[in-house]
Amino acid sequence: MDTLIKNGKIVSAQSTYTADILIRDEVVCAIGTNLEHTFSLKEETRVIDATGKYVLPGGVDVHTHMDLQAGPCRAVDDFYDGTVAAACGGTTSIVDHMAFGPKGCPLHHQLQEYHGLAKGKAVIDYGFHGTAQHPMTAEILDELESMIQDGVPSVKVYMTYDFKLEDDEILSVLKRMKELHGVTAFHCENHQIVEANRKKFPQEGKTGPYYHAKSRPNLAEAEAVRRILYLAKLAEDAPVYIVHLSCKESLQAVEEARAMGQKNIFVETCTQYLTLTEEEYKREDGLKFVMSPPLRTKQDIDYLWKGLENGEIQVVATDHCPFFFEKEKQLGKDDFTKCPNGAPGVEERMILLYSEGVVKNRITLNKLVEVACTNPAKIYGLYPKKGVLQPGSDGDLIILDPDKQHILTKSDMHSAVDYTAYEGVLVTGYIEMVMQRGHMLAKDNQFIGEKGAGQFIFRKPTT
Ligand code: URP
Ligand code: ZN
Ligand code: ZN
Repeated sequence: MDTLIKNGKIVSAQSTYTADILIRDEVVCAIGTNLEHTFSLKEETRVIDATGKYVLPGGVDVHTHMDLQAGPCRAVDDFYDGTVAAACGGTTSIVDHMAFGPKGCPLHHQLQEYHGLAKGKAVIDYGFHGTAQHPMTAEILDELESMIQDGVPSVKVYMTYDFKLEDDEILSVLKRMKELHGVTAFHCENHQIVEANRKKFPQEGKTGPYYHAKSRPNLAEAEAVRRILYLAKLAEDAPVYIVHLSCKESLQAVEEARAMGQKNIFVETCTQYLTLTEEEYKREDGLKFVMSPPLRTKQDIDYLWKGLENGEIQVVATDHCPFFFEKEKQLGKDDFTKCPNGAPGVEERMILLYSEGVVKNRITLNKLVEVACTNPAKIYGLYPKKGVLQPGSDGDLIILDPDKQHILTKSDMHSAVDYTAYEGVLVTGYIEMVMQRGHMLAKDNQFIGEKGAGQFIFRKPTT
């Protein structure tokens, strides 16, 4: 069915203008005025009046962990529940970070596994990032090329956790990915510092969730960011993408590297690092916020918002990785080191960026589209199919009421988890309608899409 959206204020990364959009055969067919006179509309065309509303490209969240196996725990949202939550929150594409596989497994082991997890379940379009794990062998370095041939031109490296890579392994991945024009993403934390604290604090009786934050200080992250930037420089400015950057010192490291002329550095932060502080860990339910890196301070938050506005940060994602507060998170009730890391957020990202960012004048609406839609799509090879509204792009969009206020609360959310990290937050702005490829996904916070309708996004190298 054709869809004609009339009189909306269409927002791109560069401009905002009033026009109509015609979606035909799942793609944007035309943007302009009086389209009904230029194009012969079929009788059954769906016409939507968007007067006074914003029309944004569907959100692109390039950092989620659906159905993630993390040690003994499995993230609560599978590819159905997690993508329903995404859809209702205005995100129409995800690129999911696959879990570590069994020791020594090839990269395709996880790719095959994840195709199985997502197919028939995902309600929005999806891609995967590869996961590079220790040991990094010549065979696996070779396999990076066939991953790209299979639509996966990005790979994530962890500098902490069990299967973290050593610096020499990191260098070899960076060099190979540069040859292949792919992107290497990094979880940056200094493993030795973090592990020493995780041993020491419980011995000193420091077992509460606040010590989770203290065990992973800003400088442990910033040191790892600096190291990655040096390694990337050694690899002749190999592309690096820093995931979930959370603090001032880390962003300063990036700014200094860029000022020295280093190219191909991409930075992502996440909604939670822009909105929540380490004070949350002092709450009775502080375990809800145990994630890595941890929440930081108001000073860090201010620095990150500035980094978005001045272009030092390219992407806002979520790192959506929920565990039940009443179940898995309680593993950490006597010792934060036993608490699974991660929190929900895929549903809240777009509206919080609007309410906390645009309404509070920290970023423009065009910047929101840039960092939540266009840039992630460009960096990771989804653009111009995704991340933009222009003729030929997929008909993925959001209609946003700019003034309607509501309070975020778990009972209105769609993730299968038992909490939102933003309970009770008053937001301005309301996502009225969400479409994917011209099909209605969500309306007035009700999911009305179809299980399994999400398609694998075959991405191409971009750098
Ligand atoms: O605590 C987090 N972030 N869990 C998800 C895995 C990761 O490190 O991205
Ligand atoms: Zn991470
Ligand atoms: Zn993550």
